[in-house]
Amino acid sequence: MEYTCILVTKPIDGVGVIQINRPAVLNALNLQTMTEIVAALGEFDADTTVRCIVLYGNEKAFAAGADIKEMTGADTVEMMKRDQFAKWEKIRTTKKPIIAAVSGFALGGGCELAMLCDMIVASDTAKFGQPEINIGVMPGAGGTQRLTRAVGKALAMEIALTGRMISAQEALSAGLVNRVVPTNVFFEEALALAKEVASKAPIATMLVKEAVLKSFSSTLEGGLEFERKNFYMLFSTEDQKEGMEAFVEKRKPNWKGR
Ligand code: HXC
Repeated sequence: MEYTCILVTKPIDGVGVIQINRPAVLNALNLQTMTEIVAALGEFDADTTVRCIVLYGNEKAFAAGADIKEMTGADTVEMMKRDQFAKWEKIRTTKKPIIAAVSGFALGGGCELAMLCDMIVASDTAKFGQPEINIGVMPGAGGTQRLTRAVGKALAMEIALTGRMISAQEALSAGLVNRVVPTNVFFEEALALAKEVASKAPIATMLVKEAVLKSFSSTLEGGLEFERKNFYMLFSTEDQKEGMEAFVEKRKPNWKGR
């Protein structure tokens, strides 16, 4: 697929990189951008040389939301026909871990896209928010659900009801992001974290992601059962033997992804 709204980098050290590239509109997420992100993630998921993915924008904006100009004239039926959330569902089911590197604005759909990733590295100038209330709508791609799970009811209500943006530091204190780093190295820091993830046993990595996400949709009992099955499953991989033998032999493991 030819990309016009994103830039995709050839994987290096097991990390695939996707950059949202609509700087003139603060990386507003139009339908084409979402289609391309889904396609690029699909390619990385199928590529055995990729073990972790970084998604980022630029210093000024991760993404300032869904493209408002594309939605202004739409009615309910039109919005339902677009079925844009099918794309978001595809992102949710990406098997490999995705790290969002966020600098500047992560608003509305941009904040939701960052939360759909598995970890967030934020620059000290990052601003997170769900300002949909200011344009007469509300979050539609998980904002009321994922934000509440991440930061708790009180702050999620405030963010979604007032449209107030929170700073990177506030996002860190609230548990929304993993770390806050200087703006000039936000991408490099995310890349370093991604390389660390990419250096681990690939199948175990995917099963960890799957099991952690399961905790959002299961009872504790169901989640524990799911975790246990994934744990047992890893004992039929070559990497389990290699990892444990390497520990005993005091050497670095050589992962095969099998
Ligand atoms: C379309 C956008 C945009 C958006 C910015 N732009 N955000 N275009 N959709 N979400 C465009 C502006 O129109 C402008 O284009 C250019 O980007 C620069 O923006 P400015 O407003 O001039 O920049 P600034 O004054 O620095 O203000 C930055 C800002 C503001 C605070 C982020 O742009 C803003 O409030 N944007 C909208 C944020 C928002 O409401 N997001 C939620 C969208 S709804 P021109 O051509 O004028 O230069 C949503 C629902 C998700 O996300 C549902 C699930 C998919």
